[in-house]
Amino acid sequence: MLRNSYCTDFRPKYYETRNIRQAEGCAMYLVTGATGVIGRPLVETLLAEGVEVRAVTRDPHNAGLPAGTEAVAPEAIPTALKGVRGLFVHPRAAKDSIEELLRLAADQGVAKVVVMSAINVDDDPDHQPSRFNGDRNTEVERAVTGGGVPWVAVRPSSFAMNTLGMWRGQLALGDTVRGPYPGFAEAVIHERDVAEVIARALLDDSLLGRKIPITGPEALRLDELVPIIGEVIGRPLRFQEVPAEMAAQAMTRNGLDAGFVQALMARYQRETQRPATVTDEVAKILGRPARTFADWVTDHKGAWS
Ligand SMILES: NC(=O)c1ccc[n+]([C@@H]2O[C@H](COP(=O)([O-])OP(=O)(O)OC[C@H]3O[C@@H](n4cnc5c(N)ncnc54)[C@H](OP(=O)(O)O)[C@@H]3O)[C@@H](O)[C@H]2O)c1
Repeated sequence: MLRNSYCTDFRPKYYETRNIRQAEGCAMYLVTGATGVIGRPLVETLLAEGVEVRAVTRDPHNAGLPAGTEAVAPEAIPTALKGVRGLFVHPRAAKDSIEELLRLAADQGVAKVVVMSAINVDDDPDHQPSRFNGDRNTEVERAVTGGGVPWVAVRPSSFAMNTLGMWRGQLALGDTVRGPYPGFAEAVIHERDVAEVIARALLDDSLLGRKIPITGPEALRLDELVPIIGEVIGRPLRFQEVPAEMAAQAMTRNGLDAGFVQALMARYQRETQRPATVTDEVAKILGRPARTFADWVTDHKGAWS
């Protein structure tokens, strides 16, 4: 376990400004999946709120976590849970050890568990493309909500970050993204909004017992998202439709799992027929509007060049 002293004078900003009862001494939070897309901004948000963070990573010495974070290996979790007030369960990092993790948390008297899953977590398993890549959001969320420790389940829509994986390669070669289902729309969400909602769920007891679907502020079609990237980075980008079968073959040739590709195409086809889910939970919980897709591109401008 790497030890950085952080909380010498415990006056957490969060508790002070919101007049919430606080435990004696430093409030400690354990974050699993701490080096990932959601984990990093979550760690930063918690530190900014003035609480202590233990961050689980399989490579504590090279995790590059912010100063003030205590990086711990998964094997050290039994010790690291001592004195922890709230636990964040990351579904990818914790899926193989969820029962044990929850047992240890209960044994150590952890007061709250916040789990991230996904907005489609109640859908038929075959309709959840990420399952074909090994994710087990449904099982992890059920384990947490069915366990004995008070919980919050945060269910994000697709991350705006996915667009980098989908389109950066094509946009390095030209101004056109070629893909299927231009009319497929979803309200993609900024990872910082996900992280801030999770932080609020950890720090504030008002969300206890809720399964909260969170999305970006508006549903945008694939052929609307691409021009927004162009506006922000100053290029005339456009989306050009190609037949779904041709796109699926290209994705599989590029190494994506065939089951995943099939499930993704089926999702595009199914959901192009119906309005995308948009919720106002981010605004209600954080007290300000959810970040837009243009905000997200602005925050990641350098990644597109
Ligand atoms: N992408 C989306 O649009 C979306 C939307 C809603 C929900 N989700 C769900 O959110 C999860 C992904 O979140 P994310 O993007 O934050 O994850 P991520 O960045 O891929 O992973 C988070 C961290 O978990 C650790 N990790 C990754 N794979 C692991 C494994 N097999 N075993 C143990 N540790 C592992 C890694 O940390 P170390 O290497 O440091 O240990 C990684 O940095 C998935 O369950 C996905 O289904 C995704």
